[in-house]
Amino acid sequence: MPWNPEQYHKFQAERSAPFFDLLNLVKIRPNLKVIDLGCGTGELTRRLVDSLPNCEAVGLDQSEEMLRKASAHAGENLRFERGDQTQIEGAWDLIFSNAALQWSEDHRKLIPSLFGRLNEKGQLAVQVPSNHNHISQRILRETAGEEPFYSALNGFNRQPPVLPIDEYAEILFHCGAEEITVFEKIYPHVLENSEAVLEWIKGTALVPYLERLDSEKDAFLNVIRKKLSSALPGSPILYPFRRTFISAVKPRG
Ligand SMILES: C[S@@+](CC[C@H](N)C(=O)[O-])C[C@H]1O[C@@H](n2cnc3c(N)ncnc32)[C@H](O)[C@@H]1O
Repeated sequence: MPWNPEQYHKFQAERSAPFFDLLNLVKIRPNLKVIDLGCGTGELTRRLVDSLPNCEAVGLDQSEEMLRKASAHAGENLRFERGDQTQIEGAWDLIFSNAALQWSEDHRKLIPSLFGRLNEKGQLAVQVPSNHNHISQRILRETAGEEPFYSALNGFNRQPPVLPIDEYAEILFHCGAEEITVFEKIYPHVLENSEAVLEWIKGTALVPYLERLDSEKDAFLNVIRKKLSSALPGSPILYPFRRTFISAVKPRG
């Protein structure tokens, strides 16, 4: 997927707030072997690494564009690698992921498979956006289902893989996890107007649609722009952004 670091960074302050909430869930211990899944442009991976004494960390991402930016944050205790977050190998003391697992399907399989990669006393700490029922996301899916976009997209329409929070707790319970913590939090972002919501989703949810569209791209954006402006009139507007936090620890032997 062609990620655009500049577009993604347009709302950097708003996007980094949940990272710090996730970091607050991490059990700080020395000498941890850490992987940050979907590390993006790497500055938040650097913040994570700088909070963990003497850790050894890998930032993993699929996107060359993001990794090119991330390389500026590499150092003795942090390297960046290209790879798929659903296919990780090795054993880890901390598997961390901020705003990335929502891009991978089947969390009923993914969460146990990641949990299985933890060392004893290792921790899984994940944040995923769960705002798929916000009007902006509904408009996006609705428009992708309409012609001429349905044909231009070959019927592609992304169904959100993020589960209700109680399911994550159950999945982790069945993995034998300890200290299970799962909650949702709303980030009440105040944006200038509906155009700002469009700019926000252009950096994330719209990415897989825009990469599949060619000559219909502008028309697709214009239809969404129009629908958003009648659904979210006025200025400023509230963009209540729902996110899910998941943390759990692997028991000793
Ligand atoms: C919304 S960004 C989050 C970046 C960073 N964690 C942050 O908090 O700013 C999502 C990142 O996940 C990456 N990504 C999506 N699917 C992936 C996959 N299957 N494996 C690895 N990285 C993936 C994207 O390339 C992108 O950099």
